[in-house]
Amino acid sequence: MPETAQTEIPFDRIRAVEWEDGRIRLIDQRLLPQRHESVYIEDVDQAITAIRQMVVRGAPAIGVTAAYAVVLAAARSYRQAPEDWIRRVQPELERLRAARPTAVNLGWAVARMHRRMQALEAGTDPVPPLLAEALVLHREDIAANHRMGELGAALIEPDSAVLTHCNAGTLATGGYGTALGVVRAGVGGGRIVRVYADETRPWLQGARLTAWELEQEGIPVTLIADAAAAHLMAQGRVRWVIVGADRIAANGDVANKIGTYGLAVAARHHGVRFMVVAPTSTVDLEAADGGRIPIESRSPEEVLRCGDRVVAPAGARAWNPAFDITPAGLIDAIVTEKGVVQAPDREKMARMMAA
Ligand code: MRU
Repeated sequence: MPETAQTEIPFDRIRAVEWEDGRIRLIDQRLLPQRHESVYIEDVDQAITAIRQMVVRGAPAIGVTAAYAVVLAAARSYRQAPEDWIRRVQPELERLRAARPTAVNLGWAVARMHRRMQALEAGTDPVPPLLAEALVLHREDIAANHRMGELGAALIEPDSAVLTHCNAGTLATGGYGTALGVVRAGVGGGRIVRVYADETRPWLQGARLTAWELEQEGIPVTLIADAAAAHLMAQGRVRWVIVGADRIAANGDVANKIGTYGLAVAARHHGVRFMVVAPTSTVDLEAADGGRIPIESRSPEEVLRCGDRVVAPAGARAWNPAFDITPAGLIDAIVTEKGVVQAPDREKMARMMAA
């Protein structure tokens, strides 16, 4: 039985990442919604491949996976060289940290596991204490999501409709979700009565993943083409846009799935409020502003195709940045487990992080 199983909290039944019998179990998110299958990760290279190929995606879920991958790496290194395993494992940790560039939770989780590793007494079998640390990190992520769900939902007026982008749900986190944690809590408390989800080209996280996980929980969702979002706002159909984040800079600028910035611009124009929901593990105080955040560039093939089908003429080129930066000035609230930062700026972010 995995140790991060479901809770008594409503709409909280799915876990994308779990430690199971000495391996990492991941829901293969490339196959959803047609097939719901798991893959098992037994070493750090398999974990890196799974992160790169988007078997697991979403910043906090990548971080949790990386924490468990450090346990696998340490176990093997200790078996091979009990006297020298910490030094020998470092290159694997570096490769893991570099698997995807934008989600700061990846580097954050590896650094936390590394600190725990350094604190071990010489000659200690690293697996029990490192696994304990990874499980705590995972449970803390779920607890942060529950807390952010309450805090974010409390900002929303009863009977509201909301729009979300990409997938910032249980599939993207240790469990429950960030933006979709607010949706879960908001639906449970009667504040949210309708959820619109952008399909989120090119990878279709909204259509394939958000719609799937909300339907699994019995929360009805209405999909829209990304291009329909501004029209939806112009018609007064949504009060809030609620999204997650891959990295939040010290001044409150937010990196999130490509298209988020455009939503924030349209939301401000139409008087729709804009909420970013992310744990403090997503805040990077070393990035002074959004310009310092590395943006992942993915294969043009993802744009030239829709799934397996080629949709562009032979020879067509494509540009495929996976994330964009939403300036803090367009954000009404950043919700973390430490509290809500309204109209975020550098000072307010620093105060929240220090709390
Ligand atoms: O490329 P992805 O699917 O990993 O991008 C995910 C997102 O942009 C999410 O909104 C973000 O990681 C927050 S997940 C709680």
